[in-house]
Amino acid sequence: MNDTPQKSLLSRTAKRTRDAARVVRGTREVIKPEPQDTHAEDANAQEDTTMDQNNTDQDKPRLDLEKDIQSGVEVVKRILSCTDEQIRSRAFLLGCLADYGIPFQPWHDWVRWTDRFMNTSHFGAVQIPTEFVDFLMTLSREPIETAVEIGVLHGGSTYFKAAVLQRLNPNIEYNLIDIEDNLIAYDAFKEHLNLIKNIPNTSDDFAGQAFDYVFIDGDHSYHGVMKDYVNLGRHAKVAIAFHDIHGHEYDHLDGGTVSSWDHIKDQCLLSHAIYEFAHNQRRWMGIGLAVKKN
Ligand SMILES: C[S@@+](CC[C@H](N)C(=O)[O-])C[C@H]1O[C@@H](n2cnc3c(N)ncnc32)[C@H](O)[C@@H]1O
Repeated sequence: MNDTPQKSLLSRTAKRTRDAARVVRGTREVIKPEPQDTHAEDANAQEDTTMDQNNTDQDKPRLDLEKDIQSGVEVVKRILSCTDEQIRSRAFLLGCLADYGIPFQPWHDWVRWTDRFMNTSHFGAVQIPTEFVDFLMTLSREPIETAVEIGVLHGGSTYFKAAVLQRLNPNIEYNLIDIEDNLIAYDAFKEHLNLIKNIPNTSDDFAGQAFDYVFIDGDHSYHGVMKDYVNLGRHAKVAIAFHDIHGHEYDHLDGGTVSSWDHIKDQCLLSHAIYEFAHNQRRWMGIGLAVKKN
């Protein structure tokens, strides 16, 4: 019996997901180990629709992605033109993040954020919303004119963060490092933000450079994080931040991000103010921030 269009879309999607998962495992673990590698699926859905314009089933994800990108760009513009009072307001930033969105994902701990924050495409900030906003409010008190983010994936949280920092420091240079280019709508966001794409690259290519702010969210193994810290993190003039300080799904990678943050925190305790933003009851994700004391 022939597949219905829906069934055949599902089986194609399942195949793509399996293929993508194999590719991801073959290189490095870059995706939160949850049920499906749906990031890759989104990129494939986009390619497929370009090839087959008449297939309405496959048009849907593409249309949703375009809508989500458009609202994302509008939010960036809103942040860049907001008042001094708004940029210091938690409610304003949470409202902006709700309109910007977090990516659609079937992750158990994501469900809580569905109603207000979840996009229909895989574009959005891969961040627990209140955790991310509280982190941004603390970080943005600091004078940051040069920034580098290691591990940007689709750029979802990068663009939002760059907008907040640029609103406070219009001359900021925000560098993006990743081993592969999976950015979504880079050119559309670059029209408004001072982004510098250094992809493909790793922290090795910038070893010893002193940026004001360094965000580490690339290779989640213990050695990978420590390497990024040694190459760039320890040279940060103002602040270093780490994603997944409670990412126990990486524990099998020599202790992963949890162990590396523990060690780096110890290292920085006397010289830095340490903050941890952790809003998930089951200890997941989490952002660590170390701000240099004067
Ligand atoms: C969890 S994702 C980053 C998510 C992103 N920061 C966000 O909030 O949306 C990890 C990213 O790190 C990249 N990556 C893995 N190993 C890396 C390395 N050694 N150097 C730079 N990027 C790396 C992957 O390609 C992937 O895009």
